[in-house]
Amino acid sequence: MCCAAGTGLPDEIALPPRLQALVSLVPPVDVVADVGTGDALVPVALIRTGKARKVIACDKSAAALDVCRGKLEQYGLWADELGSIELREGDGLSPLKRGETQVTIIAGMGGLTITGILSRGPLDVAGTYVLGPMSHQKDLRLFLHEAGFTLVDEAIVRQTGKFYEFEVVLPPPGDGVCVSSTAEQMPDRFPLMLEGEIGALLWKRRDPILKEYLVHREGKLRALEGRLAGTPRAEQIGTLRKELLNLLSKWDSR
Ligand SMILES: C[S@@+](CC[C@H](N)C(=O)[O-])C[C@H]1O[C@@H](n2cnc3c(N)ncnc32)[C@H](O)[C@@H]1O
Repeated sequence: MCCAAGTGLPDEIALPPRLQALVSLVPPVDVVADVGTGDALVPVALIRTGKARKVIACDKSAAALDVCRGKLEQYGLWADELGSIELREGDGLSPLKRGETQVTIIAGMGGLTITGILSRGPLDVAGTYVLGPMSHQKDLRLFLHEAGFTLVDEAIVRQTGKFYEFEVVLPPPGDGVCVSSTAEQMPDRFPLMLEGEIGALLWKRRDPILKEYLVHREGKLRALEGRLAGTPRAEQIGTLRKELLNLLSKWDSR
């Protein structure tokens, strides 16, 4: 059977760039959990590429898990993946037990939903979290900073004109309960740039897709500033836009 490059999936269910980026951020481990698994493409790719021996695919929606089971059957993957992909129903991290996974993915939902899931915990189900918010990226970064997470890796990808960002993070030390803390107590906490507007690691690495994103975002802000001209909001937007332009002007200096 033909396989989509690098994913281990048959061509007809090739992963889009966003999901390819997500899978590439997962290190090879024994057990991965995929919270909000949707159609289970990520679990299948993780098993097929040998990134995980087992994936616990969780979703709060029984209907979504039915669709997921149906997809696995449709692709002829259900029978041979049985035992490698376990479906569990429940909100956020609640279907998982302490230390059960080495990596937990939470992707394909809004940044505020991911923030809610991490806040409710328990966070000690996994050592590493791979997060892929579809919106409210800034809010998620501010939360990760305040709660004392550590940033391990970051990625950005462009798919059909939209930008998708990912964070790989370690939870704050302790009992896994997320609490806000002061900078003095959390010297290594998640770094922020422009108050979470852009990824600090992406900037440090001068990721070329980040440059595309900065140009794109500056253009959007310019249009919005024009539409809101004369209001206090336009002034705030103008300040942010100038900060982005300033960063772009420093792109090549190290
Ligand atoms: C769009 S799908 C994402 C599928 C896949 N993870 C991806 O990145 O493409 C979002 C899924 O998240 C699930 N979901 C949303 N909030 C959730 C929560 N609090 N706990 C578990 N699953 C949740 C939804 O039921 C839905 O199936």
